[in-house]
Amino acid sequence: MLVYFFRWEAALAEPGRRASAARALLLLLIWGWQAGWSQKPDSGEQVYRTACVACHGFDGRGQDRSQVGFETPLPDFTDCNFATREQAGDWAAVVRQGGPARGFSPIMPAFGEALTREQIDSVVDYLRSFCSEPKWPRGELNLPRALFTTKAYPEDETVVTNAFKLRKPRAFSSKWVYEKRVSARDQVEAVLPFRFAQPANASWRGGVGDLALSYKRVLVHGLRRGSILSAAIEAVLPTGDEARGFGNGVTVFEPFVAWGQLLPSEGFLQFQAGLELPTRTRDAPRAAFWRTAMGRGFSQRRGDGRYWAPMVEFLADREFETGARVLWDVVPQLHVTLSRRQHIRANFGVRIPANHTTGRSVQLVFYLLWDRFDGGLTEGW
Ligand code: HEC
Repeated sequence: MLVYFFRWEAALAEPGRRASAARALLLLLIWGWQAGWSQKPDSGEQVYRTACVACHGFDGRGQDRSQVGFETPLPDFTDCNFATREQAGDWAAVVRQGGPARGFSPIMPAFGEALTREQIDSVVDYLRSFCSEPKWPRGELNLPRALFTTKAYPEDETVVTNAFKLRKPRAFSSKWVYEKRVSARDQVEAVLPFRFAQPANASWRGGVGDLALSYKRVLVHGLRRGSILSAAIEAVLPTGDEARGFGNGVTVFEPFVAWGQLLPSEGFLQFQAGLELPTRTRDAPRAAFWRTAMGRGFSQRRGDGRYWAPMVEFLADREFETGARVLWDVVPQLHVTLSRRQHIRANFGVRIPANHTTGRSVQLVFYLLWDRFDGGLTEGW
């Protein structure tokens, strides 16, 4: 580069004054460029090299334990499976407040005093550059889970959702969901429901419902547009005791799409639409459903503390038979992180039938969620 500049300068030097003006301009440009460049200690890379390399290593994989002198394993920022799941805000909180902000080791120091918010944001941006595979959807697109609307983002979560019917005949149902991410874009899932009911003037009875197995794949995702779209197919198998009211008695296929969209100021929108296609329509009707969840996130202590997300869901269900009506439910709810690691979360809501309310009771619904990838049940508090 410099060699070219000197050759060019030498060529310009010959024809006199006009050339020297051009030369001065060029020198000014180069000086400006260099000055701008030398001011770059604020760039993420410079911050990283000054403050983080000693432990995290030039390549982002973490220095050898023998070199750093502590046992706590260092994260590998080049591992996309780990690095892409994390939200920039969570990493920034760890850098500002130190490891304990997210239930990590205090060996990870706090830089909130030494670095400005801008420097921390740029070093977190730089951490992103260690993973170079764009096929992994970014953690920012992992929106807070709603009570009913399925997320588009692939997860490693275990979720137990419980619903209580408030009016008689009383009933309680519980759904155990096990999700396993099998690649950058693919996830499998098993759902086992339990139901306990108290029919009129009888005692409580319970049983296992229909087991559901599903496969979901991310079709498109982009952080710039802030959106993620997935398609899935679920098979609901007739494992429940139909005679006692605990199952459909028929296999039902449920293809659906799920879409998540980030909105300005921590807002978000999630949408899911699908079909219920029983293999025998004698036993269960064909139906379509669509669900929307919208809400906004709030982080305590300017992003370093607990995360809250109030949302409202609108659920619609319509059987295919002619004259069938769309049943609407509204579900206001509050999603909140319980552990500092934010991998244990809860959501509480009320499912309120909005039309054709006969025989449809208000339900209290809540779930407990464990993101197994981020840590064990007892870690990160
Ligand atoms: C004294 C050593 C040390 C220094 C210096 C250090 N870190 Fe760390 N960092 C750690 C350790 C150890 C962990 C893992 C903590 C754990 O897993 O409990 C960690 C974890 C992290 C995490 C959390 C990763 C996750 O699992 O989500 C981030 C982000 C991070 N460091 C960023 C930085 C940045 C950016 C810098 C420089 C500004 C830095 N660290 C400087 C030791 C250090």
